Amino acid sequence: MKGIILAGGSGTRLRPLTGVVSKQILPVYNKPMIYYPLSVLMLAGIRETLIISTPQHLEMFRSLLGDGSHLGLDIRYTEQKEPNGIAEAFTLGADHIGDDEVTLILGDNVFHGHGFSELLRTTAERLDGCALFGYPVHDPWRYGIAELDAERRLVGLTEKPRDPRSNIAVTGLYMYDNDVVAIARDLVPSDRGELEITDVNRVYLDQGRARLAELGRGFVWLDTGTHDALLEAGQYVQILEQRQGVRIGCVEEVAYRKGFITAEQCHRLGLQQAGTDYGSYLLDLVETEPSPVRRIHAEPFAVQAPVGPR
Ligand code: DAU
Repeated sequence: MKGIILAGGSGTRLRPLTGVVSKQILPVYNKPMIYYPLSVLMLAGIRETLIISTPQHLEMFRSLLGDGSHLGLDIRYTEQKEPNGIAEAFTLGADHIGDDEVTLILGDNVFHGHGFSELLRTTAERLDGCALFGYPVHDPWRYGIAELDAERRLVGLTEKPRDPRSNIAVTGLYMYDNDVVAIARDLVPSDRGELEITDVNRVYLDQGRARLAELGRGFVWLDTGTHDALLEAGQYVQILEQRQGVRIGCVEEVAYRKGFITAEQCHRLGLQQAGTDYGSYLLDLVETEPSPVRRIHAEPFAVQAPVGPR
């Protein structure tokens, strides 16, 4: 399975913050926003990731994450010249995907929840076509919306409907088999002039090969699209980190726990950030959990299994 993080767009709603800086580099409490989606891909076990951003901003991501080897990853970069739509990620990323499966995550999506890595792992293992992740929202007209039947099987998908048939939003995390590249190549731009991700998902739905995993009450999916939402996302991370003494979206920790880097490498990453709480956290982690790899796999399964048309 390959990974793609789409981190382009114009970020107009967050101006003047995004006047010179990419939205996905902005801080969510104590980390750049892109750490959160990157850590989700890592939790899914994905080590080869393509970051797609604008010609103006791509170098910032390269300076931040390099080739990813310090995290045991292989990170590559590609430009999206214009915001032609989310589904363009698959044509721009066709070489990176090769003949593999792919998980796409939007660079401004923050997920957190108990049992998430297990859900990602099992969803990837059972993938047949496409897997989407649904989350209840109070403002469904702002999202791609999933329509479910009485048995909560996925039966319809609509992008930003005026009269939503449900309040289950399709989040910015998508898993696909290799057909997605051909499907994206055949797409026709929407009225907005974009290659819509919902149109890709509808092709799979029509083939009876789209599944929806509903993220339940134990999960949060945070918006970062407005100044208030961005601040609230940061406050959520702050409260949880301070209260529980854990870190959310700490890519070094995930790399260590997944066995992508050794204790020595994690220790070195801690030393490079010595004198900060973040660095101390990494140093403490190696000291208190010298062999943590097994723990992450033993995490209890606390969410519903994916459901969809049979
Ligand atoms: O966040 C989940 C929602 O994301 C889904 O429910 C919708 O189905 C999906 O269309 C998308 O809706 P948004 O209104 O959030 O899409 P937006 O155009 O704002 O793009 C989402 C992110 O992707 C944003 O950070 C910018 C980036 N992007 C977007 C486009 C269209 C790109 O990097 N390139 C693009 O061409």
